[in-house]
Amino acid sequence: SIMVSSSSVSPPLPSAILTQDELKKIAAYKAVEFVESGMVLGLGTGSTAKFAVDRIGELLRQGKLKNIVGIPTSKKTQNQAISLGIPLSDLDSHPVLDLAIDGADEVDPYLNLVKGRGGSLLREKMVEGACRKFVVIVDETKLVKHLGGSGLAMPVEIIPFCWKFTANRLQRLFEDSGCVAKLRTCFENGDPILTDNSNYVVDLYFKKDIGDLKAASDAILRLAGVVEHGMFIDMATTVIVAGEMGITVKNK
Ligand code: 5RP
Repeated sequence: SIMVSSSSVSPPLPSAILTQDELKKIAAYKAVEFVESGMVLGLGTGSTAKFAVDRIGELLRQGKLKNIVGIPTSKKTQNQAISLGIPLSDLDSHPVLDLAIDGADEVDPYLNLVKGRGGSLLREKMVEGACRKFVVIVDETKLVKHLGGSGLAMPVEIIPFCWKFTANRLQRLFEDSGCVAKLRTCFENGDPILTDNSNYVVDLYFKKDIGDLKAASDAILRLAGVVEHGMFIDMATTVIVAGEMGITVKNK
C-alpha cells in the first residue's frame, strides 16, 4: 500500500466531552464540505454515514446543493435518501462516481479499512470501487494498527448454500492466526441474518495478526462460496477522523 502522504489537524473541537455520536456527526459534516453541485455521489451505510446523508438532504432542501445524483450502498440508505428527497440512480447508469462518503469499522495507518459490521460490504465495495474519490468518516475509536487486530469481527459475505462448509474453510485458512468463524445471526431468534443480496455473513475473529492483507484477501476470494469480504485495501482516498483533539484529515 501507499503511505499516507498528508495529514492536517484542525484546532481542538469545542471542549466538554463529546459523545461518539457527536464525533461521527462532526466527521460527516466535514466530509460533506467536499460535495459540489452536479456530483454523482456514493451514499454510505451505517450510523456515521447516516449523518452525511441527512446533511446532503438538508443542503439540497436549502438549495445550497443542486443536481446531486445519489447511488445508495444499501436498501436502508436508499430508503433514507428517498425520505430526504435525494434523487437516486445506480451503477448501471453511472459506472463512474465523483465521490463516495462512508463510515468504517477499522482504519489502519495506510488507510486500509474493515467495513461491513453493518452488513452492507458488497454493495459498498461495488459503489466505492467506482468512485474517483472515497472519503471515509470515523471517530477516533476506529483507528487500529493492524486490520483485524481490534478483536472485533472481519465480515465475509457468503452464499447460504452449505454455509458451514464455507465457514470452516475460512476458519482453516487463518488457523495460524487463531481464527474463529461465526455465522451472524439474529439476536432475537437465532436465524441467520440476510444481507441486501440475500446472502449470509460470517464474522472472522483473530487472536493474532493476519499478516499480509493482500494475500489474505486473495485467499478469501478464492473460496467458491465467498461473495466478498470487508477488507477495503487501498480504496479510501481520504479519511476524516473526529476526536477530542479535533478533526484530522488524512489523504493518500
Ligand atoms: C456497513 C459499514 C459501516 O460503514 C461501518 O459498519 C461503520 O458503521 P458505523 O458508522 O455505524 O460505526 O461498513 O456495512
